[in-house]
Amino acid sequence: MTISLDGKVAVITGAASGIGRASVERFVEAGAKVLAADIDAEGGRLLEDAFPGQVAFHRCDVMSEDDIAVTMEIASQRFGGLDILFNNAGAGGSPTPIEEMTGALWDHSQDLLLRSVALGMRYAIPYMKARGGGAIVNTASVAALQAGMGPIAYSAAKAGVLQLTKCGAAELSKYNIRVNAICPGFILTNIFTPGEMPTQIKTVVKTTMRGAAHLAQPVARPGEADDIAQAALYLASPASGFVTGTHLVVDGGMTVGPRHSWDVEEQARRLKEREKLWAGAAELTKTDA
Ligand SMILES: NC(=O)c1ccc[n+]([C@@H]2O[C@H](COP(=O)([O-])OP(=O)(O)OC[C@H]3O[C@@H](n4cnc5c(N)ncnc54)[C@H](O)[C@@H]3O)[C@@H](O)[C@H]2O)c1
Repeated sequence: MTISLDGKVAVITGAASGIGRASVERFVEAGAKVLAADIDAEGGRLLEDAFPGQVAFHRCDVMSEDDIAVTMEIASQRFGGLDILFNNAGAGGSPTPIEEMTGALWDHSQDLLLRSVALGMRYAIPYMKARGGGAIVNTASVAALQAGMGPIAYSAAKAGVLQLTKCGAAELSKYNIRVNAICPGFILTNIFTPGEMPTQIKTVVKTTMRGAAHLAQPVARPGEADDIAQAALYLASPASGFVTGTHLVVDGGMTVGPRHSWDVEEQARRLKEREKLWAGAAELTKTDA
């Protein structure tokens, strides 16, 4: 199926790296004009150079309500309207466990990962109404679905994104605006090597992760940013015209079930343990007799 975004205008947040950057490429390839929003001005300029006339960069910190509002306005001014918003910017948030959490750390994670999505929707709506409809795609995470997939503040924020998506879809259906979310699994991007990490350590972390990423889920290859970009393209396009208020899990099967349901090595290890247990029980039975 060929997906077309011909004549559409999209805002993508967190566009300078990883999932956002891959989505800019997919959206442009499908014919859209893209306002790339990010705090990384250098990455933004590289995008503009790579896609002259099709991508414009605007520095936007999604922690700032004003920045978000202005971003939507600039997209509309620059390209004549707004049809698609991919609320994707994010980072790991606070790694602090709940027993040590502070209000400030909690608020920072929620503002970055949840409030930003709500306000993105809020400020995109007038422009989408003016176009007679639109599509909003929000990046959540498998951490929204299960414990143990990310820090607690991050996971709670991403779970909030899913409910925001559902309620937003309900509220906005009257304007012909669809709202959906994506739950990525383990995707090799810069999120695991934040800016403050020394370069040498970044290189080691990236190499180690790429070497092990095929072991993380049933689909035995690393999850790539483009896997999520393709899902975003589908949810942003008319191809998903009958889809709203839901989330697409793109995780190579990471959440299909417990590890032993799909990992043959784990199955073999559990079988050995069971055999040992049976042998011990048999010994006991002999002794009792
Ligand atoms: N990589 C994964 O395994 C994974 C899994 C689940 C969900 N996600 C989510 O995917 C989204 C994209 O992350 P990624 O993996 O591509 O990471 P990434 O670090 O490669 O890209 C994130 C981008 O967001 C930008 N950004 C960060 N804070 C910002 C802010 N305050 N305002 C504007 N831009 C900001 C960064 O500059 C960067 O360009 C995030 O919401 C993340 O939580 C990622």
